[in-house]
Amino acid sequence: MTSPEDKAQKPLVYVVGGSPVQKQEIVQNLQVFYQLEVFDGETEISERLSTAVPTAMIVDEVLPPMGGAGFVAKVRNKQETKALPVVFTAESKNAEMIAEATSYDGVFLVERPFKRATFIEALSSSVNASVEAKWDDVEPTQKAALKNTLSSFNAIADLIQEGEPIPYDSVRDSCTPLIEAVQNNNFKDMLAGVSDHDNYTYVHSLRVATFLSLFGNVLGIRGDDLMVLSTGGLLHDVGKMHIPHEVLNKPGKLTEDEFVVMKSHVNCTVDFLEETSELPKGVLIVAGQHHEKLDGTGYPYGLEGGKLNELARMASIIDIFSAITDRRVYKEPVPPEQALKIMENMKDQLDQNFLAVFREMLLDGATY
Ligand SMILES: [Fe+2]
Ligand SMILES: [Fe+2]
Repeated sequence: MTSPEDKAQKPLVYVVGGSPVQKQEIVQNLQVFYQLEVFDGETEISERLSTAVPTAMIVDEVLPPMGGAGFVAKVRNKQETKALPVVFTAESKNAEMIAEATSYDGVFLVERPFKRATFIEALSSSVNASVEAKWDDVEPTQKAALKNTLSSFNAIADLIQEGEPIPYDSVRDSCTPLIEAVQNNNFKDMLAGVSDHDNYTYVHSLRVATFLSLFGNVLGIRGDDLMVLSTGGLLHDVGKMHIPHEVLNKPGKLTEDEFVVMKSHVNCTVDFLEETSELPKGVLIVAGQHHEKLDGTGYPYGLEGGKLNELARMASIIDIFSAITDRRVYKEPVPPEQALKIMENMKDQLDQNFLAVFREMLLDGATY
């Protein structure tokens, strides 16, 4: 059952118009990931918009009294909703209505009948478009770090899809501003800038790249070796792009079978990276061993103690810290102090010397 606290953590999305069956279908598909409010007519939705603007809105072509496209026009003409992301649903034969609605920026069309995955992707893209638009106001180095790593990440997704190798050079270039931001101790806007982004694998990877670079910087690692940490962080989970949305974003505990699927992301990542020419070996270690534990209980290899080199020990600390402190659709981020306590109790699994240095780094750096 969904608790009120749980509800408050999910992005708010309004579902506007369409037949009762269509609205119910949308609610069933999305309620795990979003907090949904349903509206039947223009009067109700207009009243609601004057009290609270959601993260995104799904508008159907059928909306009494005037239709969905006219309503989208009104939304775009109001200052407070002019950039509100809209997913517009319509039948492909209604070309005029579609042309009108999609003539506005930030309107994503989904034609009926739609596949669940297509619909979720459209909503996710619309949320991301509004998050990314806010990056224009971020301090320049951090803005470059966000924009470059995201475009690199999206390019990687396409290359993986096409079975093409990832060009390491361009990944390295995209991480240059991130390293600069970290070295200037100027990275908090960057972390805040991704917190509402809806591509969880990107958000997590950027946070791991940032924390791993910070950690390396504090340990005195510089130059190409620091770049290994940064790019290793960005690439360490790219195999998750092959994990189904339902498993990757499932609130609550995975079943045994789902966990097997989830764990396969490590081998997937390694397979992709092995195709990459000029990939530093350290990046492969970060990606391949970030789920290993000192007591041999990790995966996929179950490596123990001495077999885990420094990179693997650092990567597992950062990956666990990031995962615990990440904001997910179904959980608020755990505060860093509490995350460190949890990790200090993993005595046999994590390198406690590294953890002590990491802890000191966090305490010195106010809030992350
Ligand atoms: Fe992972
Ligand atoms: Fe990870």
